[in-house]
Amino acid sequence: MAKSHITLTVNGKAVEALVEPRTLLIHFLREQLALTGPHVGCETSHCGACTVDLDGKSVKSCTMFAVQANGADVRTIEGMAAADGTLHVLQEAFREMHGLQCGFCTPGMITRAYRLLQENPSPSEDEIRMGISGNLCRCTGYQNIVRAIQYAAAKISGVPFREAAE
Ligand code: FES
Ligand code: FES
Repeated sequence: MAKSHITLTVNGKAVEALVEPRTLLIHFLREQLALTGPHVGCETSHCGACTVDLDGKSVKSCTMFAVQANGADVRTIEGMAAADGTLHVLQEAFREMHGLQCGFCTPGMITRAYRLLQENPSPSEDEIRMGISGNLCRCTGYQNIVRAIQYAAAKISGVPFREAAE
């Protein structure tokens, strides 16, 4: 099959590649760029495990072709930590608040939470739950994921994190 030439930015680095028109963005990231943080859970846009940040939006990367990302600025979970390995505040938050168990949903969940906090730096619990409603977790029951996002929001805003009364 004829391949298309694409150029894009991934985690701050310029990338050039040849891709088949049928290649999904998730497969391009995982198989051609070896960025295996975004996971394949369903390939039908339901689970959110494949979520990446693309041009300022959360995108389920199983729902678009790699050629559609031509010219885009993409960020995956691999692009969250600082160059010296310091965790992004959301990664720290998920660790501190026990926001993961098996970890399969975590890259997509954190990438989605990153965009949620960009759009709304101090979301209510309901806004967090709505904001991550496209990302499924089979393990945690979501409570600690919500706490982790609240922890990160507080830290970013420089206010003390206060646990909501149960
Ligand atoms: S793998 Fe993309 S939404 Fe499930
Ligand atoms: S931690 Fe296992 S699916 Fe979310």
